[in-house]
Amino acid sequence: MRVEARDVRDAVAAIDGLDVDYGRPGAWRPVLRSVDLTIAPGERVALIGESGSGKSTLASLLLGERREDRRLAAGRVTVLGHDVFALDRRSLQRLRGRRVALVPQNGGASLTPTRRIAAHFSETLRTHRPDLDRRARRARTIELLGEVGLPAPEAAPRLYPHQFSGGQQQRIALALAMSGDPDLLVLDEPTTGQDAVTRRALLSLLRALSARRGTTMLFVSHDLTAVAQLCDRIVVLYAGEIVEDGPAEIVLSDPRHPYTKALLASAPTLDGPPDPTAILDGSSGPDRAAAGCSFAPRCRHAAPACREHRPTVETVGPRHRVACALHEVIAVALPPASSGKSRATA
Ligand SMILES: Nc1ncnc2c1ncn2[C@@H]1O[C@H](COP(=O)(O)OP(=O)(O)O)[C@@H](O)[C@H]1O
Ligand SMILES: [Mg+2]
Repeated sequence: MRVEARDVRDAVAAIDGLDVDYGRPGAWRPVLRSVDLTIAPGERVALIGESGSGKSTLASLLLGERREDRRLAAGRVTVLGHDVFALDRRSLQRLRGRRVALVPQNGGASLTPTRRIAAHFSETLRTHRPDLDRRARRARTIELLGEVGLPAPEAAPRLYPHQFSGGQQQRIALALAMSGDPDLLVLDEPTTGQDAVTRRALLSLLRALSARRGTTMLFVSHDLTAVAQLCDRIVVLYAGEIVEDGPAEIVLSDPRHPYTKALLASAPTLDGPPDPTAILDGSSGPDRAAAGCSFAPRCRHAAPACREHRPTVETVGPRHRVACALHEVIAVALPPASSGKSRATA
């Protein structure tokens, strides 16, 4: 499914035909393959998939992150109308923070250990909120730290990152990302390592932010409960490829790709532990040379043809696409009603 020109213009982010490799010249290894993804204003999109599937790579590309050990082998990333890999340093800097912000995985690690919390905030606030004087910046810092549920936010600006727990540092990184009031907020596993109370508070904060400001979000997560509560759309990545993309309630209740089915079945539900027969094992990276479907070696439905031909992306419902040649056959063999499991929403 190619990205239409009109969609790119209206989109907050548009990824088109993206192939990305890690490594070095002469020794590149594919990590993302043929990724097409358009995110509309105000959407809250979950990106799910096993670890190693390329979620963090995709998230960092939206910020135009350049690395020596990575190359764009094909495709384009457009964010708020800008081709982010064609921007010069200054323009990219302007786009980041104010318009697009990332809360990285292990966000605490993005804080500078030798700088007080106040210094982190005053830098971004000076750039993005020139209307604020020193006092107002301090007040805004405390307000942001309070919003993310940091205990004693008034005392926090004077402290150094190591004086907070990992979960608190993650929340400080989130407050910092919010300080520029971005149009697109990319969150890489923000609930990982948070206790249940903080997790709930973070989710309601993100929901409020989205309702109040219409902030568009890409939410990378393993946490399907959080995804169900926050996101209106789910994109499933397997070995660097999007295998399913659709409205959250549909993907959660009637997943169409066998990998999505296995991924959902391997997560705990309200009714009890995960279905042990569904647990995925083994792994395979993307292999651009492989002829067939990259999930075929692990798929219990795979037919010989699946190993020979790459599946095309098919539309299976409104705004719902799936890359599986057998999705219709599997839907008949495993109707959604037979799963009968209700997903935890608390
Ligand atoms: N700097 C790197 N050099 C080489 N390979 C990398 C690098 N960073 C990530 N990878 C590989 O890219 C794949 C995707 O990684 P990542 O985007 O972190 O996945 P996820 O966030 O889904 O766990 C993994 O196989 C990982 O080993
Ligand atoms: Mg990751």
